[in-house]
Amino acid sequence: MTGKFISIEGIEGAGKSTQLQFIADFLTARGKQVVVTREPGGTELGEKVREVLLQPSEHPMAQDTELLLMFAARAEHIQQIILPALNRGDWVLSDRFVDATFAYQGGGRGIDEQRIQALAEWTLQGCQTDVTFLFDLPVALGQKRVEQRQQQKDRFELEKQAFFERVRNCYLSRAQAEPNRIKLIDASHSVEVIQQQLTQQLELLLETPV
Ligand code: TMP
Repeated sequence: MTGKFISIEGIEGAGKSTQLQFIADFLTARGKQVVVTREPGGTELGEKVREVLLQPSEHPMAQDTELLLMFAARAEHIQQIILPALNRGDWVLSDRFVDATFAYQGGGRGIDEQRIQALAEWTLQGCQTDVTFLFDLPVALGQKRVEQRQQQKDRFELEKQAFFERVRNCYLSRAQAEPNRIKLIDASHSVEVIQQQLTQQLELLLETPV
């Protein structure tokens, strides 16, 4: 028995949290066991790594360190959470997965895609999402939403607009290259319109054999 693996992606302020809950509730109502998780994080070790990655610091982190920590947390996540859940027949819903590394460390930081690909092959060992929902919106709109949250910004949220433009463009080109796996959702629409789109996509996924 094997379940399905869904991730959600997008720049900050794209409304991922609201939609994550909607997807989890939708699948649960359809009788699926859903494991909701996140990256970086999802395991005890991964959550510690997340703290290191998100904590602002006066000493900048080397780009390679950031990249390797993302994959270290992911290796743990795959072994401890994702694969066991899928093998039980559960569905896994992750707030971000490997597309985020291509977008942030590749697009945002400018690390060569081939290097990320090599680490992905090593770490993922074929474990990839069945569907990834990419919540896309203009960077300025996302940043406005982040400003309204009035909570302390993490190390990524402190980045400049140009960084998020590169992240967004990378996400969009990945969606264009892999339209069957990465579903583009216009996150500037109302919550209701977005949830209608999600419902359609989830119905299709429920019908698709494993
Ligand atoms: P979030 O869970 O609130 O979206 O925060 C996670 C942050 O980590 C977000 O800014 C994106 C960033 N990130 C990467 O840079 N690379 C990755 O591979 C992942 C999973 C997240």
